[in-house]
Amino acid sequence: MASYFFTFFAFYFFSLHSIAYSTLTTYYSTSNNNNNNNNNNSSKPHHKWVGPSGHLLITVDANGFGDFQSVQAAVDSVPEQNRKNVLIQISAGYYKEKVVVPASKAYITFQGEGRDVTVIEWHDRACDRGPDGQQLRTYHSASVSIYAPYFSARNISFKNTAPAPMPGMQGWQAVAFRISGDKAFFSGCGFYGAQDTLCDDAGRHYFKECYIEGSIDFIFGNGRSMYKDCELHSIATRFGSIAAQDRKSLNEKTGFAFLNCRVTGTGPLYVGRAMGQYSRIVYSHTYFDNIIAHGGWDDWDHVSNKNKTVFFGVYKCYGPGAAAVRGVSWARELDYNTAHPFLAKSFVNGRHWIAPADA
Ligand SMILES: *[C@@H]1O[C@H](CO)[C@@H](O)[C@H](O)[C@H]1NC(C)=O
Ligand SMILES: *[C@@H]1O[C@H](CO)[C@@H](O)[C@H](O)[C@H]1NC(C)=O
Ligand SMILES: *[C@@H]1O[C@H](CO)[C@@H](O)[C@H](O)[C@H]1NC(C)=O
Ligand SMILES: *[C@@H]1O[C@H](CO)[C@@H](O)[C@H](O)[C@H]1NC(C)=O
Repeated sequence: MASYFFTFFAFYFFSLHSIAYSTLTTYYSTSNNNNNNNNNNSSKPHHKWVGPSGHLLITVDANGFGDFQSVQAAVDSVPEQNRKNVLIQISAGYYKEKVVVPASKAYITFQGEGRDVTVIEWHDRACDRGPDGQQLRTYHSASVSIYAPYFSARNISFKNTAPAPMPGMQGWQAVAFRISGDKAFFSGCGFYGAQDTLCDDAGRHYFKECYIEGSIDFIFGNGRSMYKDCELHSIATRFGSIAAQDRKSLNEKTGFAFLNCRVTGTGPLYVGRAMGQYSRIVYSHTYFDNIIAHGGWDDWDHVSNKNKTVFFGVYKCYGPGAAAVRGVSWARELDYNTAHPFLAKSFVNGRHWIAPADA
């Protein structure tokens, strides 16, 4: 009992500490960048980033030993325009519900007891009908959707349990998790689905030590994200693909940077697909099992010359599948200078919002 209590307390303190640290870092750098310390202009202060103050702990327990029995009920209890760090601690258990964190509720953390034991799951597919009778479509099939900034999740899994489609079936995209808020941090999380598991939609995101499983385009969207020390696990049957990135113009800073990851499971597997005309995907220091499809990369439609506009690359990857990831002329082995922006948390401006201990 004593040791359980100690562990619990250590987690709690550590997590609040690191949230508070990120907050401080952000505030510090923002005021630093303003560079107008001599110009005491009273119309300026509202441009300044004001961090959250105070902490709120909410517990969720499927068996009724917490403040709430469902995760959505806990989120609903957080006030609109929230300005506190809110830690939603979720006991081990399966939470069968669809969860939405609206844009007005920033600074929320979901913390589970481990990604194998705390699971939020639902089973909508793109072709299923919503409350209005219309088809949900891919983005609204997500079991959990986050629209708020400064969201984080630790040691918890998100699943879409709809059955995996056979190749060629229409409307079976089934998203487990959608992140559409800026500055989101994930560590020790699991994402389970088949087609379109993780919708990395918009904003800057950092995934550390996560496990992501799926079959086709199982990480997709127009996020600007770093995946570090993650396992990308394919359950593809006839063919599959890991990442489909949707950068649409040269001006966008979006892209997926995979660093120090492991690619495992079944193939043949494309490692990246050109969803957007200027798609950007880079794998560095990543291990590839012997499951990579011929060519390694896919230009999506074979007609819009995306092979001339995308930025696909690899840097110092290894494993029996690594040679196949250099299988087309338009996915290059990068030199250090070209790879450099994709190797550090600065890719997502992480210095300003991710604590050093978390990166
Ligand atoms: C700037 O304005 C604030 C609020 O009006 C005031 O308290 C502060 O002394 C001023 N600082 C300088 C350097 O003028
Ligand atoms: C303060 O800022 C406003 C808006 O940026 C500007 O119109 C005004 O001239 C500034 N005043 C001073 C004293 O710098
Ligand atoms: C998450 O799980 C890992 C591995 O079990 C553990 O080391 C870590 O302390 C946990 N973090 C939190 C915030 O519970
Ligand atoms: C690039 O794609 C076009 C079709 O969009 C194709 O005709 C061409 O052969 C491709 N080039 C290379 C180098 O793969």
